Amino acid sequence: MQLQLQHTVAGLALLAPGALALLRFSCSQLVVERLDPLVTPGVTGSPHVHQIIGGNSFRPSMDPGSLDIPTASTCTTCTFADDFSNYWEQTAILYFQARNGTFKRVPQKPNVGFEAAKGGMTVYYTPVLSGQGKVTAFKPGFRMIVGNPVNRAASDVPRQLTFTCLKDPYTRDGETKDFPKQPCPAGIMVNVRFPTCWDGVTLDPPDHQSHVAYPSSGTFESNGPCPASHPVKIPQLFYEVIFDTTPFNDKSLWPADGSQPFVWSFGDKSGLGNHGDYVFGWKGDALQKAMDSNCNINCPALKSQSIQQGNQCTVPDIVGEDIDGWLTELPGGMPVDK
Ligand SMILES: *[C@@H]1O[C@H](CO)[C@@H](O)[C@H](O)[C@H]1NC(C)=O
Repeated sequence: MQLQLQHTVAGLALLAPGALALLRFSCSQLVVERLDPLVTPGVTGSPHVHQIIGGNSFRPSMDPGSLDIPTASTCTTCTFADDFSNYWEQTAILYFQARNGTFKRVPQKPNVGFEAAKGGMTVYYTPVLSGQGKVTAFKPGFRMIVGNPVNRAASDVPRQLTFTCLKDPYTRDGETKDFPKQPCPAGIMVNVRFPTCWDGVTLDPPDHQSHVAYPSSGTFESNGPCPASHPVKIPQLFYEVIFDTTPFNDKSLWPADGSQPFVWSFGDKSGLGNHGDYVFGWKGDALQKAMDSNCNINCPALKSQSIQQGNQCTVPDIVGEDIDGWLTELPGGMPVDK
């Protein structure tokens, strides 16, 4: 299945100058461990391993009633230093399964030009097309999840959750909903685009999903309208995560039955359980200002820091288990699909 989406900076440059502005920035890795304050709050040792980026107020429990994220964070791994959001990208941890059944975590790498520690991710916030009305930035307490780790049917996966098999670091075409079937010479990029329409009221429903929706027709890129149930346009939040699969590209290491060898940390061999989580935590109205100013890539209105400074921001791994050796099972004992 091949999907075509215009999301790259190069792609955007093809539009009329000034037609679309966006924030695009690097966030290095804060920690990789089994914590998930959205789905299993307070539990140290959530079912599967995630990569976390963002502010250092990340902890097992992030109850919005008792934690003000921008105040609680003293540093962030993102280059826009006003951004103390915590994002954690549950799609972000990939394992290679060897012929002998053992697992090895696939390393990550940053986009070209972003020397983010241990890969991290590239984050985009894109407002609506200029001249087509304003976008409403997320409010304090806003959280959302896109995708679902239990999905195993392509029809259940939104078209905005995809993989790109990188022929080189700049490949941006040929997106698929499932894992690439052949070795990818420059690694596998995971693309997570969140819904862009909000009900205007609910900050974080119990399912973390029903308050947001994709456009009712067309796409975000074509400025499709929001459904009546979710009338408020919000910025398009988009994560790119690159897995450096090149150490595992030798086909003699791949399963003898011709299938591909990568598995998500939650045991999914199809890739269709791709998902991402977002916890809003920008300071004050910094994100709204950035969206209103239509700054493009660089945003002088925002406080920023160097990638190297962002790399200094970390939190201790409080789960403290081996996630990097040759493992006989996935961390947490996650069963792998048959
Ligand atoms: C399993 O295979 C991997 C990759 O070939 C190898 O590095 C590892 O040592 C093997 N483990 C065992 C227990 O044979």
